[in-house]
Amino acid sequence: MGQTNNQSESNSLRDALDSMIGQSEAMRRVFDLTLRIAASDSTVLITGESGTGKELIARTIHDRSKRARQPFVAVNCGAIPEDLLENELFGHVRGAFTGAQQSRSGRFMTAKEGTIFLDEIGEITPRLQAKLLRVLQEREFNPLGSDVATRTNARFVAATNRDLREAIPAGLFREDLYYRLAILALELPPLRARRDDIPPLIQHFLKRYGGNPPRTIEEAAMTRLQAYDWPGNVREMENLIERLVTLTDHREIRVQDLPELSSYLRSPREAALLREFILPSDGIDIDQCIRRFQREMMVQALERANGNKTAAANLLGLNRTTFIERMRRHGLGSLIPRRLATPNGP
Ligand SMILES: Nc1ncnc2c1ncn2[C@@H]1O[C@H](COP(=O)(O)OP(=O)(O)OP(=O)(O)O)[C@@H](O)[C@H]1O
Ligand SMILES: [Mg+2]
Repeated sequence: MGQTNNQSESNSLRDALDSMIGQSEAMRRVFDLTLRIAASDSTVLITGESGTGKELIARTIHDRSKRARQPFVAVNCGAIPEDLLENELFGHVRGAFTGAQQSRSGRFMTAKEGTIFLDEIGEITPRLQAKLLRVLQEREFNPLGSDVATRTNARFVAATNRDLREAIPAGLFREDLYYRLAILALELPPLRARRDDIPPLIQHFLKRYGGNPPRTIEEAAMTRLQAYDWPGNVREMENLIERLVTLTDHREIRVQDLPELSSYLRSPREAALLREFILPSDGIDIDQCIRRFQREMMVQALERANGNKTAAANLLGLNRTTFIERMRRHGLGSLIPRRLATPNGP
């Protein structure tokens, strides 16, 4: 946890959320909101990209709530087919379906007065959405095959990495259910939007996976990691650190140890290309280099494609219109195949 202006607030935040690292402005707001949410009893919707810590926050909300001594029951709605999920949540009575020889209580029951965490809520089918809406509205449900409504007093916390508001107009998610779930909403920012948190998180995972004494990390390597975009967020980082600690013997982790992050490019092929470039000691004119590089790649692509613009554009991941527009900009407009002049230099 980071520093806060108010000392007592800082201490209470630290106690409350000691398993979560984050000192950026964005995460301090998240922690503050988490404690407020924990103190209330309303339904919560946690959103955020994959790996941003949604489940950790859900557990923290439970642990810090007055329900902490009751069960925390997590259900991954995206991992279970509809029928099984329904059975899992609501339970069934004997004879509800073929093979139901015994009644079985569902997760809503086992949660008792605790917290139900509905993970990947965006994945549930319209039929289950309707049933869930009833549970949230009436606080009751019918186990499969039963006419008798059962009450639930659990608190509901849901999470999704999809934008449910976008799913509403597309007819994939019920608007009324959305508003029932998002009475309180908490959004976890992606790691690339809070780069201040990257170094302390890395240290945290080095401590966790790094043995005794923990590994250290070279400053240049840290810089790389801080510049990287982390599409898989904290989970990706945790996995990377675990892998690095397992696969290296030396105490200090260096840039060479991070092959797949040697650039923050999309594909390994582009990363391999970039490794060829070494910054000269007296520096470069970066804008001019980019222009030259682009022009050079376009000329080579045209040569490779025997002057076929569509094929050349494909080689560069561009569409034909963009490619032609850029040809014009680079003075390649009237280029004749196999006679590729370079008016701007070598
Ligand atoms: N702020 C943080 N401090 C320490 N560990 C974190 C933090 N955020 C996430 N983690 C760790 O990163 C991993 C991923 O977090 P979590 O499972 O909560 O993410 P998620 O948002 O639920 O991801 P997904 O959408 O993929 O299910 C977990 O091991 C979690 O403990
Ligand atoms: Mg999760």
